[in-house]
Amino acid sequence: MSRTATLLDGKAVAAKVRGEVKTRAAAFTTKHGRAPGLAVVQVGSDPASSVYVRNKRKACDETGIRSFAHDLPSTVGRAELLGLVAKLNADDAVDGILMQLPLPAGLDANEIMDAIDPRKDVDGFHPHNTGLLAQKRPRLRPCTPYGVIRLAAEYGMKLRGLRATVVGASNIVGRPMALELLLAGCTVTVCHTGTRDLAAEVERAELVVAAVGRPGMVRGEWIRPGAAVFDVGINRSDSGKLVGDVDFEAALPRAGAITPVPGGIGPMTIAMLLSNTLDAAEARA
Ligand code: GUN
Repeated sequence: MSRTATLLDGKAVAAKVRGEVKTRAAAFTTKHGRAPGLAVVQVGSDPASSVYVRNKRKACDETGIRSFAHDLPSTVGRAELLGLVAKLNADDAVDGILMQLPLPAGLDANEIMDAIDPRKDVDGFHPHNTGLLAQKRPRLRPCTPYGVIRLAAEYGMKLRGLRATVVGASNIVGRPMALELLLAGCTVTVCHTGTRDLAAEVERAELVVAAVGRPGMVRGEWIRPGAAVFDVGINRSDSGKLVGDVDFEAALPRAGAITPVPGGIGPMTIAMLLSNTLDAAEARA
């Protein structure tokens, strides 16, 4: 087969979104006499988290968002962390609060995340924002699923009516992804560890989102010819290469469009975080 999929360039679309954010941040700063602010909290020193946090803070600097760094030791207590969240909730210079996950064992992540003011919940993880998305009146939307929707829109994809399969049912990606696709008018299937026949669910899909965190979990031969494939996985292969959850080489000649890893959904996630920060700032001001 000579056909090959359109590569969905998340890096390029993310750059466009960041450009929009930069313009909005400058206008906000002029109007309100202060830059929009994002507090980025990291507890402990998980190496992957440190990379993400560094990238998020750098992206803020580049777009005119003021970032407030809070790096706490993994030994921080529940009361102290809740105290910081309360302080950030009350701080008028802070429009968004990002609590990098995972939190160290011993802290109840749900309790900490639930304490964040929903109006500053730029991750869109608070049950309040999840509930609004479920009720088709989204406010602050989880960055990765929102990034998938924005990327599809930039390529002119019409999602309404598509059969969509989401592989993975996490609170961070799979579940909100299903809600976003439902909002966009897809007929949605969500696969998880209880799914009996993953191949059959993927084979039916005109749009596939893979969000499991396991290389090669979605086999290329399962991809329906012409399907749009969004690979959210970022995994380190045995040879040290970054790979997604989809067997990319095998999927490429079948898919209609596919996101590469890296350079696909990863950059979109950070861009949507910045966009959410502006949404939060403008809504609060
Ligand atoms: N850890 C992995 N992904 C994310 C994310 O999108 N937001 C936060 N806060 N933590 C994460």
